[in-house]
Amino acid sequence: MEEKIHLEKILWNDYDKITSLKVDKSQKSFVAPNKASLIDAYFAMTEEKMKVYPFGIYLGKKPVGFIMIAYNCPWATRDYGLPKNYYYIWRFMIDKKYQGLGYGKDAIKQAIEFIKSFPAGKSEAIWLSYEEENKVARKLYLKLGFVERKDLHKEDMEIPAILKL
Ligand SMILES: CC(C)(COP(=O)(O)OP(=O)(O)OC[C@H]1O[C@@H](n2cnc3c(N)ncnc32)[C@H](O)[C@@H]1OP(=O)(O)O)[C@@H](O)C(=O)NCCC(=O)NCCS
Repeated sequence: MEEKIHLEKILWNDYDKITSLKVDKSQKSFVAPNKASLIDAYFAMTEEKMKVYPFGIYLGKKPVGFIMIAYNCPWATRDYGLPKNYYYIWRFMIDKKYQGLGYGKDAIKQAIEFIKSFPAGKSEAIWLSYEEENKVARKLYLKLGFVERKDLHKEDMEIPAILKL
C-alpha cells in the first residue's frame, strides 16, 4: 500500500530525528533550523503566552519534514496589524531529500484541517509569511487559497498571506 503523509506531535524521543532534517543550502534563509524552532516554541509558550503546536511530517514511520503552528502571536499585530487570534503557520519545511514529491502540499493541507478543529480557540483566519524570493512556497500557499497581503508588507520583512477559514 502506498504510504501517506501524516502529522505527528513531536515527543522528546523524536528530537534527534526531527532536528536532523535539513533544507538545501540555497533555502537556508527561508526557514530557521528545526532545533531553533523548537527552542522558539518553548520561549513563545513560557514568555509570550502563545500556544504552539510543533509537528513532525511523517511518511509512514519516516520523518520527512516539520511544521509548527501557533496562536496568540504578538507580532501578528505588531508587525502586520493582524488579530492575535489568527492561527499562524510559523515554520514549515520538507527535508531536501524529499522535496518536490507532493509531501509539502499534503502536509499543509493537514495542518489546515488541524487548525479547523480550533485547538486553541475560535478564529477567522490563518496567516503566514515568506521571503519575496521564495517562489516555491509562495506558489504553494496561493494555490491553497492564501491571499497575499502586500499592502501589509514593510521593507525588510517577509510578505504576509492570509487564508480565511
Ligand atoms: C516549501 C516546501 C516546504 C515545499 O515542499 P515540497 O514537498 O517540496 O512541495 P510539494 O512537492 O508539495 O510541491 C508543491 C508545489 O511546488 C512545486 N515545487 C516544489 N519544489 C519545486 C522546485 N524546486 N521548483 C519549482 N517548483 C517546485 C511543485 O511542483 C508543486 O507545484 P504544483 O502544485 O503546481 O504541482 C519546500 O520546498 C521547503 O522545505 N523549502 C525550504 C523551506 C521553506 O521555504 N519553507 C517555507 C518558509 S515560508
